[in-house]
Amino acid sequence: MRNTFRSPFDETSTAEEVTAGIDLTGKTALVTGCNSGIGYETMRVLALRGAHVIGTARTVEKGQEACASIEGRCTPVVLELTDFDSVVGCANQVDAMDVPLDILICNAGVLYQEHREKNGLELHFLVNHLGHFLLTRRLLNRVLAAPQGRVVILGSQAHFSVPDQGIYFDDLSGRTWKTPAYAHSKLANGLFALELARRFEGTDATSNCVGPGKVVTNIFRNAEIPWDENGKNVKSIAQGAATTCYVATSPELAAFNGYYFRDCNPSEPSALMRDTELANRLWDVSEKLVSEYL
Ligand SMILES: NC(=O)c1ccc[n+]([C@@H]2O[C@H](COP(=O)([O-])OP(=O)(O)OC[C@H]3O[C@@H](n4cnc5c(N)ncnc54)[C@H](OP(=O)(O)O)[C@@H]3O)[C@@H](O)[C@H]2O)c1
Repeated sequence: MRNTFRSPFDETSTAEEVTAGIDLTGKTALVTGCNSGIGYETMRVLALRGAHVIGTARTVEKGQEACASIEGRCTPVVLELTDFDSVVGCANQVDAMDVPLDILICNAGVLYQEHREKNGLELHFLVNHLGHFLLTRRLLNRVLAAPQGRVVILGSQAHFSVPDQGIYFDDLSGRTWKTPAYAHSKLANGLFALELARRFEGTDATSNCVGPGKVVTNIFRNAEIPWDENGKNVKSIAQGAATTCYVATSPELAAFNGYYFRDCNPSEPSALMRDTELANRLWDVSEKLVSEYL
């Protein structure tokens, strides 16, 4: 299936186009980082198709403002991914809604040029991967309670920039890394999606990673845009959210588990991102790092 499936969509498709005709009434979705960029568009389009969308933002104000500006049913919840108490608080709030979670989209992310860390953990790894690992683990039973729960994790083609060493298990502070920390975190995103997919085998739930493409968003506010934003292959935000929305909702993809998608189609990730032993090790290490909060 990996090599043969082609969807009717491509890099030019928008989130509205890939979800046209899909009725999400009665479904619940959670989108992290709902107040900006790809996450905002994802929330908007899922709500437009009838889903109740729980949108997370770092402050009450940002979440409320985003949700209020969207047609449909959106509920803001605060989530600060660098703060595990906040992650647990967010998961508890979702749990209290007492509904299955049909769609969980781990979208929030950061990109910094300089080294940053918190509590001895490199910040991209902490925000982009570990906070989402904890959130997902806390919400897994809700996803498994859905008729066909889907976890969609935002990765990036940047994961190809990680050399052979893979994940820096020996020094997660980032101080000694030679690899770009953003790329390292995006490899972690892909490995997490892969290991989750393995653990979903035998259930109806699925886990996939998506690369949205190059999209000019706020993520570049702390770094230079690494391409000419007027140049070729730069997507609009509507196009940037398409792969996420397609993978999260398309009936055609109900059995796709453990894939990397870009431009609305399965795509071959790096050999490192397909490394099941590395994925399993990352799961174990991540679990130890958040063990007090599980
Ligand atoms: N744009 C691209 O070209 C591109 C390419 C490949 C992959 N991606 C991935 O796509 C995803 C969405 O990025 P985007 O481009 O839409 O960026 P964006 O517009 O900057 O949105 C990022 C979202 O993440 C939130 N966030 C940041 N730090 C957080 C934290 N510590 N805790 C909780 N939430 C936090 C932001 O909240 P605030 O607004 O409060 O900061 C914002 O809502 C990311 O995972 C990114 O790596 C983007």
